[in-house]
Amino acid sequence: MAILVTGGAGYIGSHMVLSLLVNGYDVIVIDNLSNSSRESVRRVEQIAKKSVVFYDGDIRDRDFLDSVFGRHEVSEVLHFAGLKSVGESVLEPLKYYDNNVSGTLALCEAMNTAGVRRLVFSSSATVYGDPASMPIHEGVPTGQPTNPYGRSKLMVEEVLKDLAAADSQWSIALLRYFNPVGAHVSGKIGEDPFGIPNNLVPFISQVVVGRREALTIYGNDYPTPDGTGVRDYIHVEDLVEGHVLAMRAISRKPGVHVWNLGTGRGYSVLDMIETFKKVTGKDVPYVIAGRRDGDVAECWADPSKALDELGWKAGHCLSDMVEDTWRWQKNNPNGYS
Ligand code: NAD
Ligand code: UFG
Repeated sequence: MAILVTGGAGYIGSHMVLSLLVNGYDVIVIDNLSNSSRESVRRVEQIAKKSVVFYDGDIRDRDFLDSVFGRHEVSEVLHFAGLKSVGESVLEPLKYYDNNVSGTLALCEAMNTAGVRRLVFSSSATVYGDPASMPIHEGVPTGQPTNPYGRSKLMVEEVLKDLAAADSQWSIALLRYFNPVGAHVSGKIGEDPFGIPNNLVPFISQVVVGRREALTIYGNDYPTPDGTGVRDYIHVEDLVEGHVLAMRAISRKPGVHVWNLGTGRGYSVLDMIETFKKVTGKDVPYVIAGRRDGDVAECWADPSKALDELGWKAGHCLSDMVEDTWRWQKNNPNGYS
């Protein structure tokens, strides 16, 4: 039996595939390389000294999915494939609903046909919208995400809940990630966004490595301790460990399970800049601009449900996250290219 990882060439997916290989699982990857490079999977194979079966294909293509399920015995699917740029989703909403929602529908249909009914879905803290208080527990009602990307994640969550309600053979984990950062300790794989990074950590590390002049801080007038936005940054290695535990848990418990994957601590943009300066010994030039549309002031998790039910707790501190990010960026100033 093998584990199918959609989006396994991407940032989080590649770390996941490595962890699965190291844990002794056989892995099949489907990725259309729309936001990633084949090189990430090659490097994963080098580090693990084990190979994966790689398919360059699209999860919206039912015939393709049926052929993959027809060729392999799959025990569960870890579903990372999706588009994730908030700004792009505002400009091209149909592309996001097609890829993220229709893609997941096609995947679930193909799984049903193949009799594979264990699924771990990459959801996001964005489904909470802008809750009144912190930290955010899974019991907090989902809010109103402020953009099509966020709504596509919430829609998929609802679809998957309906699916499990209609057919008790399904076991589904909805993992709500907070802000994944960091890289594998080898410095050989990491986050390599195409174009200008949307997210804070890849942007700062490209400034430090000399690819960009200065960071733009989106707002210093939030009601937070230093006025800049506060987020719960979580090391990608802790995140993938949460997936392994969630995958094992749903194999014992059918139904839908929701777990936050965050550290439970928030850091501001200025905290991140200070940590980068300390870790790299380099300056981080920045300019202050207005708030970015759709941003919330603060967002951090109550991760106690994952601790109680999965025995999972994030182990890496902020310095680890920045050190590992920096090792990857310094060794690969131009990413995989
Ligand atoms: P990523 O873009 O690096 O990885 C996604 C991968 O999916 C890419 O390799 C891309 O080529 C592939 N893909 C996209 N559409 C596809 C399709 N139709 N068929 C096949 N492959 C396709 O992103 P990531 O940061 O690794 O995120 C993984 C998942 O986690 C995504 O679903 C994302 O929405 C979710 N997530 C990410 C974050 C974050 O901040 N990184 C936060 C919350 C949730
Ligand atoms: N920020 C800047 N300058 C930048 C980029 C970001 O000041 O160039 C600030 C933002 O305003 C925010 C903080 O840094 O205060 C973090 O921003 P990110 O873009 O790194 O992360 P977000 O919290 O906005 O969003 C991320 C993912 C979403 C996901 C969400 C919750 O991009 O897809 O985390 O999981 F939904």
